[in-house]
Amino acid sequence: MKKSKISTLKNGRQNHAAYTDEDHLVWRLLFDKQMEQLGNRASLHFMEGLKKTGFTRENIPHFEEVNRRLIKLTGWQVVAVEGIVEDREFFELLSERKFPATTWLRSQDQLEYLEEPDMFHDVFAHVPLLSNPAFADFLQQISRIALRYAGNEEAIELLSRVYWFTVEFGLIREKGQLRIYGAGILSSAGESTYCLGLDPMHFEFGVEQILNTGYCKSEFQDRYFIIDSFEKLFASTAEISELIDTMMSKRKIFAPEEMSKNGQDLVPSW
Ligand SMILES: [Fe+2]
Repeated sequence: MKKSKISTLKNGRQNHAAYTDEDHLVWRLLFDKQMEQLGNRASLHFMEGLKKTGFTRENIPHFEEVNRRLIKLTGWQVVAVEGIVEDREFFELLSERKFPATTWLRSQDQLEYLEEPDMFHDVFAHVPLLSNPAFADFLQQISRIALRYAGNEEAIELLSRVYWFTVEFGLIREKGQLRIYGAGILSSAGESTYCLGLDPMHFEFGVEQILNTGYCKSEFQDRYFIIDSFEKLFASTAEISELIDTMMSKRKIFAPEEMSKNGQDLVPSW
């Protein structure tokens, strides 16, 4: 039930005054739950980012205030959108260092499960890491690669795998400990404990392996990829670009200059 969806978005901007008492309560409940889960599980860069972006349990973030902070740190900003954004617009926004985020919050009876991302996912889980320069550069760089292949379903599917296993479901090794930086995990109470346990498979980050690995959107992941640092992740964009170019040229189809106007909705924005 997205009852606040319309009223919290007005003329393309967040309408903060429209949040209801239930919205404020839901933010606090989710914030408290995830802070309890993430204290010793989330990347230290994410925890630092939470402070830098000024997120607290008491207040649903004001996008304008968040942007004042983010722009100074990395030049990124959050832009309010109604829901999932189609591929081309999504990548265009990212390439301009703009992160699309919904403004509505789930209701109290949906704390555990959502069919599409709400503001808690888009903002709490995604925005703090935009304060990290190397991660922020990585996100912009993969969007630039995607734009070269906009409309090419196969290439966009490959990039969606990269996005999925890093931005959404990535793990990082920090001070010898496995930690979470993927937003899909950071906003999930269940997956934030499951992903570090013995049940799923853990692999070292590898571009070729990720490009050849499909994923499932409706269940916990059965595998995660571990990076050593965001600097190395950013450095991998050269290999990502090269490998996709090679894979596309071998197929001798969907070369960038032959892009169709179709092929939307393959990249998840959450
Ligand atoms: Fe996301």
